[in-house]
Amino acid sequence: MKHLPDTIRAVDWQHDCLHLLDQRQLPLRQEILKLQTVQEVTKAIQDMVVRGAPAIGITAAYGVVLAARSAYVQRPTDWMAHIETDLHTLSKARPTAVNLTYAINRMRALFPQITGNPVPELLAEARLIHEEDIQANYRMGELGANLLPNPCRVLTHCNAGALATGGYGTALGVIRTAFAHGKLQQVYADETRPWLQGARLTAWELKEEGIPCVLIADSAAAMLMRNGLIDWIIVGADRITANGDVANKIGTYSLAVLARYHHVKMMVVAPTTTFDSTLASGNSIIIEERSPHEVTQLHGHPIAPMGIKAWNPAFDITPAELIDVIVTEKGYVEHPNSTNLASLLQ
Ligand code: MRU
Repeated sequence: MKHLPDTIRAVDWQHDCLHLLDQRQLPLRQEILKLQTVQEVTKAIQDMVVRGAPAIGITAAYGVVLAARSAYVQRPTDWMAHIETDLHTLSKARPTAVNLTYAINRMRALFPQITGNPVPELLAEARLIHEEDIQANYRMGELGANLLPNPCRVLTHCNAGALATGGYGTALGVIRTAFAHGKLQQVYADETRPWLQGARLTAWELKEEGIPCVLIADSAAAMLMRNGLIDWIIVGADRITANGDVANKIGTYSLAVLARYHHVKMMVVAPTTTFDSTLASGNSIIIEERSPHEVTQLHGHPIAPMGIKAWNPAFDITPAELIDVIVTEKGYVEHPNSTNLASLLQ
């Protein structure tokens, strides 16, 4: 397996506390926040200090460690009951990415077998969730890159990179691996209004590693496709339902529609922790709506008339029929549907 050495880590456990690279400050400053409590973790997820579905899940797993640590000090015999309210609040920090509840449930499943101080066992599990995510990304990088032509020009949306995961990235993992294989000619990165994950995070990650990247306004994507400059669109996911519908950053759906019209291929890259087989279709996914200020302001400066109303859904649903392939660490499925996804996930 040939993948790029990657050094960017958004989430890290060091010296008994959780270190988060504050993604709100990038690309201007690299600032690490050190969190000691589960309440701080919940707030960091809500405020987008850390974002991206897998990174949110990993952060929550470490949040469970912090919750158990302080509850055990106060109530060594019934710490489990004592942390449930905190875990419930943590699980609601952001509604769309299923990785958050996946990680909390996986940590909670260990509780009954723990005797004594819960920290060593829970920390080991959180580290395992983190490491499994990185390994999944290397595997998906390889699988996804093998599907690309040589040379290849790709468009990505939002940030599905090292910053959005345990490391290496999902969509950017495929792009990193394709670059390592020498087949990547050009990456176009959508700026990703309104939070600008593409401009602030994806462009930064790619530039750090010398991967050729051109930043575009979201509205320029159609013209690129019309001019025949994109072979594949490669994106991550926040939740994938049983039938293959994909919730991802707002704007993904419009790209998928454009891609079909222009005969451009659409790849979704996501670990199996992003699948929610309890939901039959994307119609049941809760779409987070964030503050209108993210639309009406830039870095706190108004860019629209005072008092104007704004609608700010953070995600949209791309129907499975518009997706050519979903890549997971267990393999990939072309033309996803309930049947082929169920057999992949078995
Ligand atoms: O609002 P965000 O920045 O958390 O949204 C992130 C995305 O939509 C990503 O594309 C998705 O989580 C996949 S990350 C590997």
